[in-house]
Amino acid sequence: MRKLFVLLLAAVFALSACSGNGGPGEGGPGEGSGAGEGGGDSAAPVFELKDAVYEYGEQDGIFDNGASLYSYLLFPKTGEPGIDEEIRGWAESLYNGARFELDALRKGDGGAECEINVQYNSYLAEDAYAGIAESGFSGNSGMAHPVDFYKTFNIDLKQKKLLDNADIIDEGKRGDVLDILKGMILEKYPDADVSAADASWIEHIVLNHGGIEVLIPRGIALAAYLGPQEFSISRETLGAAYILDRPAELSGQDAPADAGGAGGADPPAAGVSGSIDPSKPMLALTFDDGPSKYTPQILDVLAAYGVNATFCVVGNRVEGFGDTARQIAAQGSQIMGHSWDHKQLTKLSNDEIASELNETNRVINDATGVSPVMYRPPYGAVNDTLKAVSKDLGLSLVNWSVDTRDWESRDADAVYAHIMEDARDGCIILCHDSYESTANAVARAIPELVGQGYQLVTVEELLRASGTPIEPGVVYFGK
Ligand code: NI
Repeated sequence: MRKLFVLLLAAVFALSACSGNGGPGEGGPGEGSGAGEGGGDSAAPVFELKDAVYEYGEQDGIFDNGASLYSYLLFPKTGEPGIDEEIRGWAESLYNGARFELDALRKGDGGAECEINVQYNSYLAEDAYAGIAESGFSGNSGMAHPVDFYKTFNIDLKQKKLLDNADIIDEGKRGDVLDILKGMILEKYPDADVSAADASWIEHIVLNHGGIEVLIPRGIALAAYLGPQEFSISRETLGAAYILDRPAELSGQDAPADAGGAGGADPPAAGVSGSIDPSKPMLALTFDDGPSKYTPQILDVLAAYGVNATFCVVGNRVEGFGDTARQIAAQGSQIMGHSWDHKQLTKLSNDEIASELNETNRVINDATGVSPVMYRPPYGAVNDTLKAVSKDLGLSLVNWSVDTRDWESRDADAVYAHIMEDARDGCIILCHDSYESTANAVARAIPELVGQGYQLVTVEELLRASGTPIEPGVVYFGK
């Protein structure tokens, strides 16, 4: 997330240079819908900042590309009406407030401009909770500096309700959390003065995989020029201060409920090969953007350990790597499409989407005899239109719950460390077999994961083992 703020800062400079419509990254508001209407499902541009984390919800936003008001205000839609009302209500009040100020300003200065730029990360925590961290700024030409915004939403997915900070952190132990935080700040900035620490420092907390992330606004705790700060604190470190149910307790409670009252003994899941034990931990490694010249090295390691992975191949690469595609399927690994030419499908017409997906499945079938029923959308970008078209085509969508960011680091040690740190039962790990560094990283990680007792399975095996129905038009993330 640190990079996000760098980009935000760049956008701040864009604003002060009066470009107004700069926008971060390569995205831009080109398809933005009318002022204040928010993104209609097909009109919403999907934000392209690649290291943002979108594990929960579907991207929505309030987009305005007017001459004097530029709004790029992203937030997720959860599908829970009460929760969506809260999130959208927060976004609308931000938008309306900025607009109101701009209108007032324009009475004195017809050329006044305003920019709102807010993005989010969303995390799935143990499949039981979700955390949403919104951050960004709003500024207008009447202000000396833009104003930062931070907002977090934490959701209990089972009870379908928003959580307060007091549901997550024992209010009586907030001092302990502050002490932990002060220690982390001093570790990063040994000269920082943390004597003024108070509750405002832990006002913005968001649930993530390992525990919580604390967002500290610019100018609080540290000098403003150091920018906003984020610190992740694990559940273990939080100890008794963390009062949400723990994953172990959750899985204990869930087993009977998920078995639909069958009394614990799940029926054997169809389609799971006999050697997979649904009661033991498993995860799915997935490789995008290939096949490439590095794919065979990964296949060799998988074969050596008798395990499987999933390869999400780009259609126009398959013919050039027909033998590799055949080998994927022959080993029992899963092959699925990742579009024909890696276009962002949410920007295409229905016919174009269908062509991207059908052509890719055609060449996969030609090469391997397999007819995939799933695919991975490029950039993980999904909207309602894409889901509807996919449903019509009989295809499910597969995203991920662990992002190794191997495309960014291109560093085998970093990718290996990322996999080992984030590996957990039920997860789907995103890698790319288009990099030598990734091939080297998984050559180390696969034996290690097997040694830790993980069953390395395909996405389809992973879903079936947990009794998850595989339905067209549905997006799967793993845990
Ligand atoms: Ni890709």
